[in-house]
Amino acid sequence: MTTVRFRRNGPYVIEGDDVRVVDWDGVEHTPSRNPVALCRCGASATKPFCDGSHSKSGFAPDPPNPHHPPRGESGR
Ligand code: FES
Repeated sequence: MTTVRFRRNGPYVIEGDDVRVVDWDGVEHTPSRNPVALCRCGASATKPFCDGSHSKSGFAPDPPNPHHPPRGESGR
């Protein structure tokens, strides 16, 4: 199973075996770590991978999807 986790103010983290990272030009990038952390802040010098720059840039993602409340807040 592959799991994609959204870090609160950081990268997408992909946990799984044999993760392939392919960019929009079809170029495959070899992850150097497992799990794989993909930049979503735009500040990384090693895109598509996260290099930790999000912590210095003050990155804050868009608000979460209102149709999918965080775990524990759905009232169920
Ligand atoms: S999310 Fe970590 S550098 Fe962009």
